[in-house]
Order: sequence, then structure tokens, then C-alpha cells
Amino acid sequence: MTKALTITASSVDPGLLGLPWSTPLAEWSNDHIVFLPKGISRHLVRFANLSGRVVAIKETTTEMARREYDMLGNLARLDAPCVERVAVIAGRKDSSGAPLPAALVTAHLKFSLPYRALFTQVLRPDTATRLVDALAVLLVRLHNVGFFWGDVSLSNTLFRRDAGAFAAYLVDAETGELHESGLTAGQRAHDLEIARTNIAGEIMDLEAGGRLEGGIDAVAIADGIMSSYHLLWAALTDKESFGVDESWRITERVQKLNDLGFDIGEMSIQATVDGTHVSIQPKVVDAGHHQRRLLRLTGLDVEENQARRLLNDLDEFRARISRLGADEEMVAHEWLTRVFEPVVQAIPFDLRAKLEPAEVFHQVLEHRWYMSQARGRSVPLAEVLTSYIDGVLRHRRDEATVMGPVTETMSLPVITTSGTPVDFDADDDDDVDWRDLV
Ligand SMILES: Nc1ncnc2c1ncn2[C@@H]1O[C@H](COP(=O)(O)OP(=O)(O)OP(=O)(O)O)[C@@H](O)[C@H]1O
Ligand SMILES: [Mg+2]
Repeated sequence: MTKALTITASSVDPGLLGLPWSTPLAEWSNDHIVFLPKGISRHLVRFANLSGRVVAIKETTTEMARREYDMLGNLARLDAPCVERVAVIAGRKDSSGAPLPAALVTAHLKFSLPYRALFTQVLRPDTATRLVDALAVLLVRLHNVGFFWGDVSLSNTLFRRDAGAFAAYLVDAETGELHESGLTAGQRAHDLEIARTNIAGEIMDLEAGGRLEGGIDAVAIADGIMSSYHLLWAALTDKESFGVDESWRITERVQKLNDLGFDIGEMSIQATVDGTHVSIQPKVVDAGHHQRRLLRLTGLDVEENQARRLLNDLDEFRARISRLGADEEMVAHEWLTRVFEPVVQAIPFDLRAKLEPAEVFHQVLEHRWYMSQARGRSVPLAEVLTSYIDGVLRHRRDEATVMGPVTETMSLPVITTSGTPVDFDADDDDDVDWRDLV
């Protein structure tokens, strides 16, 4: 008996059956394919429209697809930042009955971009540093849950804007191994070495293609992941010893971890035999300190730095209205309805796919700061919004997902932030490079 098509999926989307699985992915028509920027890869990966959302489809072996599907499930369970798995399609055959590769389907990560699409012309040193820093945070988070990646690189990572920084997500889990009892120092060092080598290679490729700002040292950028990683890992895991009369150092340690965006799930505290000294060591740390607080207070689910930014504004708002006795939840609700939502709702519909609401809000706050600096006085929010929408947001390209029908000949939008009242975003990273489209 010939084996039939098998679909493995955690939630069944009937639309999956409507995709042309008996056609090699390379030959799928534009009715199904969506053109979006994509990283470099060995396997064929294309984006398709599935029931109104965009999915990434990777052709590979059944074994690899299933392995990666399982791994992405484990990572999601451990709350690690990665793309969301959708399905594995195996047993594909073409019209003449010849076997076709299996397919791994993952959800396209909304508002995410591959690193090559984050800048227009050349990669600038500050953007490079922010990318590498975001990758270091991702690697620490993955190692913290016992995941050895095995193929750390900029190409295997997706980036989302996060209030002036980037948040990194794992996109390729094919080579990963999960050791839930924790990684050894050797395994972590090995992964980090892979990261350094791959990043150096990727930056050198940009250099060879004339896409690296002159004078940047590719190796120095790649080395940056070592120091960022080690600093963060030490802050999360180092043992500290002090005299019993210095117990405030426990609070300080917790505060420091919170500032870095982590919560302590479990801390080990040990006293010396003579009782004069104690040592503390975080045992379980969870990322997302500010995210969780904002979510609890407002229901907004955003990136860590965006959450930090929004919470700062919320705290300022609380100080401003300084209503004695008003509890935190009530003030948060008032801030949400009186400050945050009006800004988001002021964005015209046709501009809403450009940036995520939380990122827009962050940029409006930045814009207000620069406008106030330039004028030497505070500027009303309505005026800031108009200036931001017309001077900045309108000139950006969309970063949500570009749904079809779009052709490969899509032209490059003309971007200019000069001529805006305030050139608040001097970065040259706000334009997609359509050369990376498939
Ligand atoms: N769910 C997704 N959302 C957005 N982009 C995606 C997604 N899945 C894949 N991509 C894009 O496709 C590219 C290739 O995917 P992936 O790295 O899994 O392929 P690969 O062939 O296994 O890579 P490698 O050559 O490293 O083995 C990624 O760099 C990313 O840009
Ligand atoms: Mg890859």
C-alpha cells in the first residue's frame, strides 16, 4: 500500500489541506506564495499564505522536519523566544507518484526581520552592536533552559524592534539539543565559539558585498558576543558571599536581575558553619520581568525593552496625577485608556502595518523628547503625534507582513528622514533591502 500524506499539527488548520503539497515548493505559484525578506539557508524556505496568515515552509527530510518540530515545541514550553511551529507534512508525492521532501511549517514571526533586511545600505557599528547584544541575550536565555543550539548565527535568528534595541528569536532549531538538567560550561563555551565564528563570517560577507560601513572590524563585532554573553551569564548565575550584617545585598542582587529583565524563581542561600557569612546564588531565573509586570497591569504583551519604556511612562503618569490611595491597577487602567490607546488609535489605518503599536508608542515618546529639546519647552502630545505621523512614520516601509500579491519586481520605497521637523531616528536601518526577497 502506498503511504498517504501525513500532517502532524498541534491545532488543525483545514487550510493546510488546501496547499499544493504534490507540487515541489520551488514551483508553487504566486497564488500561494508571499514575498518577504528571508535569511540565507541551505534548504529551500518560502513563505505562503495559510488561512489569512503567513507561514514559512521549509523542505527537508521527514526526520529533520519532525525533529525540528518537536524541538520548537519544547522551546515554546520552556518559554524561549523562537518561531512557532505549525505542522510537519510528510509522505508528499508529485503527480507521477515520485516522493517529494517533507515540509516543516512555522508561523511567520510578525514584525520580525532577518538581519540583512534591517538596514538599507551599509551595516553601521551601532546597529551591529545592537544585533550582537540581542543575540547574546537570546543565547543566554536558551542556555538557561538547557538548550545547546549548535548553529548560532545571525542568519538563524530573527530580530524584532524593541524600543531602540532588538529582540532576537531563534528561527532554526535543526541542530539543537535539549539538556534539561542544564548545560556544562564546555557546551556553553562551544556554542559561543560557534556564534563568534559564524557572526565573523556573516559580517565579512557583508564587507565583501560592500554592505559594511568602512573601518568596522568584523572580528571585533563578532567578539562582542563573548563579552555581552559573559556579563549577562555572570549576573544571572554568579555566587556572591558577604557578611551576615550585609543582608541588603540580597535585595540588591534581586534588583540588579530585575533591571536586566529577569526574575528570580529560586535563590539558594547558604550560611557558613560559624554563621558569620552567607552566600547567595540564583538557581532559577526567568526572563521577562518588565513584560510580566506590564501584562499584569495592562494586558499589553510586548517585548522586554518596550515594556520597560511603557512602564516608565506609566510611572511618570502616576507621579503626575499623584492621586493618593489610587492603586496600581487603577492608575494603569487610566494610563492605558487616556495615554496609550489614544496614541495608538491616532495612527491612520493605512500606516498601522508599519510598526507594532508598542514600538510606535516608544517612538512617539522619543519624538516628543527631541521636539521638546529643540524648542526648549514641552510640546503638546497632539502636535507631537502629527509631526511623528507625517514626518517619520509615513516614510517607513511596512514591517508587519506584506501579504500577496506582490511581485519580485517590487520597488524600493524612497525613504528620507531628513526634512522631518526633528531627525530623531538617525539610524540608517529603517528600510528593507528587497534584494533579500526570494
Ligand atoms: N517562521 C519564520 N518566520 C520568519 N522567517 C522565517 C521563518 N522560518 C524561516 N524563516 C526564514 O528562512 C530562513 C531560513 O530558514 P532556516 O534557517 O530554518 O533554514 P535552513 O536551511 O535550516 O538554514 P541553514 O542553512 O542554517 O541550515 C531564515 O533565516 C529566516 O529568514
Ligand atoms: Mg538556517
